[in-house]
Amino acid sequence: MKVKKLIIPAAGWGTRFLPLTKTVHKELVPILNKPAIDYLVEEAIDSGIEEIWLIISPRKEQLLEYFRVYYDLEEELRQKNKDELLNLLQKTNFDKSSKIKIGTIYQDEQLGLGHAISLISRKIKNEPFAVILGDDLIYSPNKPAIKQLIDEFNKKQASILGVTSVPWENVNKYGIVVPKNLEEKNEKVFEIASAVEKPDVKNAPSNKAIIGRYVFTPEIVTLLKQTLPGVGGEIQLVDAFPELMKTQKIFAFELEGTRYDLGSIEGFVKANIDYALNDLKIKQSIIEHIKEKKL
Ligand code: G1P
Repeated sequence: MKVKKLIIPAAGWGTRFLPLTKTVHKELVPILNKPAIDYLVEEAIDSGIEEIWLIISPRKEQLLEYFRVYYDLEEELRQKNKDELLNLLQKTNFDKSSKIKIGTIYQDEQLGLGHAISLISRKIKNEPFAVILGDDLIYSPNKPAIKQLIDEFNKKQASILGVTSVPWENVNKYGIVVPKNLEEKNEKVFEIASAVEKPDVKNAPSNKAIIGRYVFTPEIVTLLKQTLPGVGGEIQLVDAFPELMKTQKIFAFELEGTRYDLGSIEGFVKANIDYALNDLKIKQSIIEHIKEKKL
């Protein structure tokens, strides 16, 4: 079955970005002239997704503003013949007439990522769906990260997680997967035996980390509803995997691309530097600016 629906959980405060996130939601933090959420939505659309569900809390309704149509601003740009800007602006328009639907689901309580994803049950029936986590921006010009997973899902017809190898000292920041056959651990795609959320560096079973891209079969949703709080007192997505694996396989896929942790100030600055260096209009002036620092 075609993967048409995608969730972006976006209810959290973004505490690592306080005090900015008091008023600017972390999904609206800019990478050059576009907010992070724009890159994620673009990734989904470029991957063939037709319906995007943002999971938000009531205080994050401002996120939706970004996708509204601003007729007055459009008119002003039209009158001033600013076609290029008008074009850019119109790419952010999503209303009832749009081919791609962006909808919202409210998560009133912050009970964890597993809880957020379980809320999609109201919107899917018996369909597979994809997930993009807002903190993980993946630059992958050849094929969008979520498309890489969707293509693999189409071959395997089983849930699949996007992973990458991280330095061992960082394993406690991620969900970590364990390959079923250890000799497959360096393969691009492998079946997993288990996954553990944020293990201690000492006890980590591997350094293959889940980096915010998933495609799931619909059965995970019912299992998440029965999952009890785990690490950090939250309902963890990975804690539903053992039940799912009783009846289905779960695979991990080594994603291609450069990943930025947009939940951290460091990741946000790195993303801005790299995207600026990829932008031919400003690349040279940024290089000169950095050279002047004589680092
Ligand atoms: C979440 C997931 C974790 C995953 C990570 C990727 O954790 O729970 O399994 O590895 O995203 O960014 P969070 O960073 O929200 O604590």
